[in-house]
This record gives sequence, C-alpha cells and structure tokens, in this order.
Amino acid sequence: MVLLAAIDQGTSSSRFLIYDSDSGELVTSHQIEVRQIFPQAGWVEMNPREILETIEACMDRVCDNLRNMGISLSEIVSIGIANQRETTIVWDRTTGKPLYNAIVWLDTRTAELAQDSIDRTPTQDKDYFKAKTGLPIHPYFSALKLKWLIDNVPEVQEALSAGNLLFGTVDSWIIWKLTGNHVTDVTNASRTLLLDLHKRKWSTQLCEFFEIPQSILPTIHSSAEVYGRLSWGPLKNVPISGCLGDQQAAMVGHGCLQVGDTKSTYGTGTFMLCNTGVKAINSKSGLLTTVGFQFGSHSPVCYALEGSGSIGGNVVRFLRDNMGFISTNSEVEELASSVPNTSDVYFVPCFAGLYTPYWDSTARGTICGLTQCSTKAHIARAALKAVAFQTSEMTEAIQRDLDGVGKIHTLKIDGGMTANKLFNQMQADALGRPIVVSKMAEISGWGAAVAAGIGAHQLSLDAFSEFTNQVIRYSAEMPEDQRLEEMAKWEAAVDRARNWAAI
Ligand code: G3P
Repeated sequence: MVLLAAIDQGTSSSRFLIYDSDSGELVTSHQIEVRQIFPQAGWVEMNPREILETIEACMDRVCDNLRNMGISLSEIVSIGIANQRETTIVWDRTTGKPLYNAIVWLDTRTAELAQDSIDRTPTQDKDYFKAKTGLPIHPYFSALKLKWLIDNVPEVQEALSAGNLLFGTVDSWIIWKLTGNHVTDVTNASRTLLLDLHKRKWSTQLCEFFEIPQSILPTIHSSAEVYGRLSWGPLKNVPISGCLGDQQAAMVGHGCLQVGDTKSTYGTGTFMLCNTGVKAINSKSGLLTTVGFQFGSHSPVCYALEGSGSIGGNVVRFLRDNMGFISTNSEVEELASSVPNTSDVYFVPCFAGLYTPYWDSTARGTICGLTQCSTKAHIARAALKAVAFQTSEMTEAIQRDLDGVGKIHTLKIDGGMTANKLFNQMQADALGRPIVVSKMAEISGWGAAVAAGIGAHQLSLDAFSEFTNQVIRYSAEMPEDQRLEEMAKWEAAVDRARNWAAI
C-alpha cells in the first residue's frame, strides 16, 4: 500500500488526510476548527502557533488512526500542502517566534494603504501592475499586509534591522516549522503582488514599489518537488513534496487539467479557477491571472483565470454565529427550503467588500426587498442565492476572457456548501449550465496529495484523473427569462451595497 498524505490548512480549519495512491480513496483524516480573531471591524487575524498546533494535533490523531487500522506509518511516502492563500505571517529566524498574528486574506486594514499605492502609480490605476502580476492593487494580497506589519509593528522593524525577519504565506510558515527551510511554491507566490508572473521570480520593481526587502522573502519552487523532510514527530523524514494554494489544489484535485476546465470551491469564500494552459491571459473582466500549477522545476507552468469571491461559507457562519438563525451549518438547507422562494429578497453579504469583478473594499452587506412578510427563511434563502449569483458573474467573466480559447460547458464544484442540495440546484439555475459535484470528499487535500505523489516520483499526472470522475450532476431547471431577471435584480442589489459606503 502506498499512502499519500496532505495538510489542508484553510481559513476555518486545519486537516490532515491520508489517501490510497492506487484508488484515491480517503483512508483516514482529522479536522480541527481554527479560531479567527476580529480585533476591530475589518481586521481578521489568526494565531500562527494555533495554525501549527492544530496541524500537529491532526497529524497525531491520524497516525493513531492508522496504527489502530493496522497500517504502518512507513506506508506514507510523501506529504502535500494545500493552504489558505495570501494570509501573511512574519517571524524571527533565530527564535522561530511569530512577531504578530497572521493577517488573514479577508482583512481590510490596508484599504487606505492600497489607495495610497494606487495614487502613487504613474496612471493612478489599481491595475497598473496587472500585466506583470495578474493582480490589482488591493488589500486582499500579501504585499500590503506585509508593508503594514513592517510599518506598524516595532518587533517586526527590530527583526528587520537585525537581519532576522522572515515573511511567508501559510505554506512557508508550515514548511519552515516542519523542515527548517524557507520556501514557497509558485502558486502561493503568485498571490503576493510581488511575483513577476511570467518569469516566476520575485519582481525587483514590485518589491521596490511596496518597499519590501527581497531578503525576507522565501525561495520560490515548483508545486511538486521535495522542499524538505519532517525533522521531528511520528512522520520524521517523510518528505514534503507537494505544495499549492488551496484553490489551485482543488483545481488539480478535480482533474481540471485541460484548457477551459473550470472548478468552483465554496470554502470560507468562493473561488473559481479556469485552466488556461501555458497562456497567462490578462483579464479584461476583473478576474485575476494566477499560476495554476507547475509539477517540477523543469515542467511547463499552467496558468489560470480566477474569479475570487469574498462571499461563501462565511455567510452561513454569519447566519449561525451573528444572527442565531441556525445552530449548525447544515440546518441552513432546511431553513431555506421552508419557503418556496426568496419572495424577492436580495442579500449581498459582502462583509469584507466585493472582489471579482468589482474589487471594491468599501462595499458593505446589504439586504434589499424586505416586506412585512419577510422571515429569516427568506433571508437564509437569499444568502445562499447570493453565493450562486456571485458564481454566475464569475463564470460570465471567465467566458468573456477566454474569448474562444475554451468554453465552460459544465462547472465542477466542491467545498462545504456543496453538501447542501438546495444550494447546488440554485447554483445550476443561476448559471443556466449543468454543474457536477464530485463524490470524492476533500478535493483540495487530494490535489495536494497528488502534487506530493508527483514530487516524490510516486505518481504521474495522468494516473489519477479517473479517481475524480464519480460525480452527481445538477441541470439548470429555471427558465432563461427568469434567470436573467434574477441576475438583473442581483446586480441592482450589488449596486446598492457598493454605493452605501459613499453616503
Ligand atoms: O484566497 C483565499 C483562499 O485561499 C481561502 O480559502 O478555503 O479558506 O476559503 P478557504
């Protein structure tokens, strides 16, 4: 038996998963929720130590599970990492201690800094560096978070002056702690706003513009190669040989390996990636251009167009934790199904502003169309539809940018929300296209495990695509004129969410 392991470190939880390389089956796994810290409105942090401790606890539990199943830990040949992207961590190379909490991708504290940076570009344009980086200047990406840390945290400044400061996204932090090597992979690097997307090297121009010393950045590698071996613990000496941002990992996990293959993952946010092959398409529709994967340092790079949505599973969490409408996430399906429609209530739950295609960090959550008859069921239903509408906007944007290079026939979807059948049907209806939900659980983890298998020379890319072919299909049932009317009303509600902040 050859086992492939994966660490899936997301915004809401850490997981450790073990897959059988012959069948792709999940042998065992463990998951622990990770706290998000909200020091003030718009700020979102996580404790880097907790990120690591939850991973270690998951690893320990999974190792116990394997022993109890009579499976030797020596069957594990490699470990892959799928991680929340952009989230920014700084630490001291001599003590190994984090110098501040992780600033999470959703955090908007750098909105002003982003605007100042835009004003400093020769054309005062948020897209000034887009051809080089694939990204607009926006608080979502790591560069501004890192700049904020250097400017505002005395411990960070001291470590920088002493030559001891290291920066990393979550993948770098994990690999550094587990192996002692300061590295990242090209997909994670492509989310920092510091990478030259075409050369796949840190850009001197961008580092100078954001005043980031290159000496604190990790070394960039491909997504499948040995970055180091675990230096301690029950899996000591097992290589970490795969690493991808979690959304790219899901793309690989779904087997989106051909140009035009597209997936959407509903985690804390919603992220749609479309494989564009060796061509990095510069979006005209508010999408990002990002690295999809590169399996080996001499292998070709696969690029992707990405629709990023700040609205996803976090809206269900909001209904649970802030509104008290439900006590567990899964109850949202029953609540939303208790009414036949939203009764024209539109909810734009953009708590951290709007990403694709608007990139408006001033937008705020808005509910339109309430009447005396509106109930929490209508709002819950409208919340689910919001995620589906947002995905529909992304799909249209991708289709426009592909401009004949490929066509999205069917969307592959995964993530926590896809356990909700009502939501899946809403999604197919909002798209006017079929969707398929993979029967394989834990798609991101599987993508990272595949990368690790390739990096450790245990698996070839073609060998695994059949594992994800088992799907449940949903067809669009809504008449086209109704779909178009609903999309138009959604866009009107988005307009109100955007203009609200200006009042
Ligand atoms: O870009 C942020 C993304 O990687 C977060 O993923 O799964 O934590 O919503 P998730």
